[in-house]
Amino acid sequence: MGNRRIEISSGQIEEQLDICAQIRAMAGEKRLAMVDTYGCQQNEADSEQLRGYLFAMGYGQTSDENQADIVVINTCAVREHAEMRVLGNIGALTHTKKENPDQIIVVCGCMAAEKNIVEKIKKSYGIVDLMFAPSELWRFPELLKTVIEGKRRVFELGGDATVAEGIPHLRTDGVKAWLSVMNGCNNFCTYCIVPYTRFRERSRRPESIIAEARELVSQGYREITLLGQNVNSYGNDLDCGVSFAQLIRDIDAIDGDFVIRFMTSHPKDATEELFAAMRDCKKCEKHLHLPLQSGSDRILKAMNRRYDSAKYLGLVDKLREYIPDVVLTTDIIVGFPGETDEDFEDTMRVVERVRYDAMFTFIYSKRAGTPAAAMDDPFTREEKQLHFDRLIEVQNAISEEKHGAYIGKTERVLIDGRDREKGVLTGRTIGGRLVRVPADDSLIGHFAGVEITDCNTWALRGKLV
Ligand code: 5AD
Ligand code: SF4
Repeated sequence: MGNRRIEISSGQIEEQLDICAQIRAMAGEKRLAMVDTYGCQQNEADSEQLRGYLFAMGYGQTSDENQADIVVINTCAVREHAEMRVLGNIGALTHTKKENPDQIIVVCGCMAAEKNIVEKIKKSYGIVDLMFAPSELWRFPELLKTVIEGKRRVFELGGDATVAEGIPHLRTDGVKAWLSVMNGCNNFCTYCIVPYTRFRERSRRPESIIAEARELVSQGYREITLLGQNVNSYGNDLDCGVSFAQLIRDIDAIDGDFVIRFMTSHPKDATEELFAAMRDCKKCEKHLHLPLQSGSDRILKAMNRRYDSAKYLGLVDKLREYIPDVVLTTDIIVGFPGETDEDFEDTMRVVERVRYDAMFTFIYSKRAGTPAAAMDDPFTREEKQLHFDRLIEVQNAISEEKHGAYIGKTERVLIDGRDREKGVLTGRTIGGRLVRVPADDSLIGHFAGVEITDCNTWALRGKLV
């Protein structure tokens, strides 16, 4: 399931846009849509397409579910905790639907590709009208029309690895844009649900990506983040001779003042060709998010990660030869089935050796249908929590030290928004570190020189120079 690459034709997307126009004509008065997004940046990017379609259907946007005529919940399946939150929030919509029985409730995203969740929703969440997997997003208008006209529930699990061009996007940020370059995953890490929800890897054609990047730059976007579950394997499935490194070079060559970011990279596809492109391209961020997951060779094998700690450390050394002050961040899973104290100590050793700038840490979450779900998992949640707390404590100290080294330096920062603190703006360095800086709103969307004066574990603080 999910193996077949299917390119959706421009004619098919035109048909969907025609359906949007029909829905727009059918509804007499002004209606509002709420799109609620969970999970990763890929989901954020998908929500921009959902909003693009909704806009074409004549819906305005709201963030209040009581006002919404349609609520779209774009879900994440990567950990159980997120799923429970989503189910709780869907349940809470019972009240809004009682007030407004015509309200349409849509559940999409990765949970909508999980059979057990779809069954649960069918049976116990009668308020949900439409559910479709990520691969079916391109035909959201058609599915919604069936619900509206037929007054019946629609469930679409999908089955093909679709690639679609031409779905409208509704981007609202103005400074930062997501640009999805590929979708899906071929790696089958044993803990991960993504290959089952997003199907096999498929890359968009480079011409389409470069045209979209050009358009974003001409619209004034200052930061373009290239997205893929496995972004650096971009192009492996196409016979077009454009690797991810080449794609970075091609986007870097577009005229304009902007920064290129990308995520997430798998160590197995992190090549010297990529490191060289990162070094050579002025607009490319000097940052690599390189998930380690574990520092234990035994656990890495059980995770099917296709590298061991020596190979990973070799990559880090090589990258630092190319870009000595590169910012490195990572993901680590604590408490994978059977992870012992010794395995955890191996992870700690790698963490202390690499000295990441920042880390995202997760306690292993069992995902039905993945190989790891069937593995013996003898350790308790409390035992795992002790490891988790220790890892965070050590990493926080490292992050703070690394941030401390910025003090006194002047960084080029893209100012991208307002901080919660009044009169303070937020921005990112070329390495992607968060910077807070007291400044006037007019600087949003501009690059500024910022002298770093202070820091904590999560962010830098500075003043304009
Ligand atoms: N349990 C815990 N963490 C997970 N991740 C992916 N699947 C699981 C799981 N089953 C983490 C990985 C990945 C990040 C996006 O989420 O660290 O890199
Ligand atoms: Fe969550 Fe992964 Fe799906 Fe993103 S791709 S929404 S992280 S399960």
